[in-house]
Amino acid sequence: DAHDTGKGTYEYYMLKEIDEQPAVMRRLVATYTKDGAVQLPAALLKALAGASQLVIVAAGTSYHAGLVGRGLFESLAGIPTSVELASEYGYHQGLLTAKPFFIFLTQSGETADIRQVLVQVKAKGYPSLTITNVGSSTLAREADYALELHAGPEIAVASTKAYTAQVALQALVAKGLGVALGQPAATAFDVVHQLGLAAAGQQALIDQKSRLHELARDLFATTRNAFYIGRGTDYYISLEAALKLKEISYVQAEGFAAGELKHGTIALIEQDTPVVAIITDPATAAHTRSNAEEAAARGAKVLFIAARSEAEPSDQLIIPDIDPRLSPLLTIIPGQLLGYYTSYDRGYDVDKPRNLAKSVTVE
Ligand code: G6P
Repeated sequence: DAHDTGKGTYEYYMLKEIDEQPAVMRRLVATYTKDGAVQLPAALLKALAGASQLVIVAAGTSYHAGLVGRGLFESLAGIPTSVELASEYGYHQGLLTAKPFFIFLTQSGETADIRQVLVQVKAKGYPSLTITNVGSSTLAREADYALELHAGPEIAVASTKAYTAQVALQALVAKGLGVALGQPAATAFDVVHQLGLAAAGQQALIDQKSRLHELARDLFATTRNAFYIGRGTDYYISLEAALKLKEISYVQAEGFAAGELKHGTIALIEQDTPVVAIITDPATAAHTRSNAEEAAARGAKVLFIAARSEAEPSDQLIIPDIDPRLSPLLTIIPGQLLGYYTSYDRGYDVDKPRNLAKSVTVE
């Protein structure tokens, strides 16, 4: 049963939820497409098509999914898109164009920081969509439109399958919207094929669990800090992979834009500081690789995670090729598993990290 809430033979929900991701990709394709075409409610499509800008509002892992979504909406639908942290946006809003459309990304649909933005947006009469895993949630009910992630209940505090579902559903919505707007880039983007590649690629990476456990041991067993670096979508995945590691293993992990290392962060590199370099985007692969090599020259222990088409023979982990805009659907799998095994090996309760709640209903 896809919505089984038991742990089965798993010791922790987090690993079960990581394993469910290929099935979630397939479920989203089955739910939101028919004969290769994206199916969205007509009223929602009309409202989106009339927007002069999209504003994605989110928190935590969902915010990281929004960063990836921005690239999808801009490249496929051709609509200027910004991504905002709900806890900031509630108090500091930039200028808006004539017809903004707000998208609330939230696994739980209950995050207070997001809800207070929705209340303001509604008061101003702007249209809104909530993308959530919980169809009966407050934010799903209160927005004009709602789309469900269909990821099944996510129990582990560290979000995994909701993140990849958010990225995939944004790709589907951006494709549907772009086609409706007659954007050639959207017509050329075969979302069903790409999400099929994502499901197969995720499975191939999930099947390398024991390898990832080894890499986690080599890199993070005793460290107190760690860095993930990349550019573009590889930067966004660096932020999310670092969050996975820090929230469940308590390693001070940070994601950085690879080009920014030399502007300050490289001062933190010491002998054996772990650095994970994410290299999937052909446009930036060479630069990120040279940034990682600079870190290595200063003593960093570098794990290279590269797309097959960008890989060097010495790279330790290869990511199957996919449209670069969707590479986060694949690169996050090692990010999740490295976090999982580091927490597990340190003897922590992976599903219930200290100080954190699954949904935060206070501002
Ligand atoms: C909490 C959770 C995070 C989650 C964030 C946003 O902090 O611990 O895992 O990313 O809230 O939650 P939401 O339900 O709005 O996606």
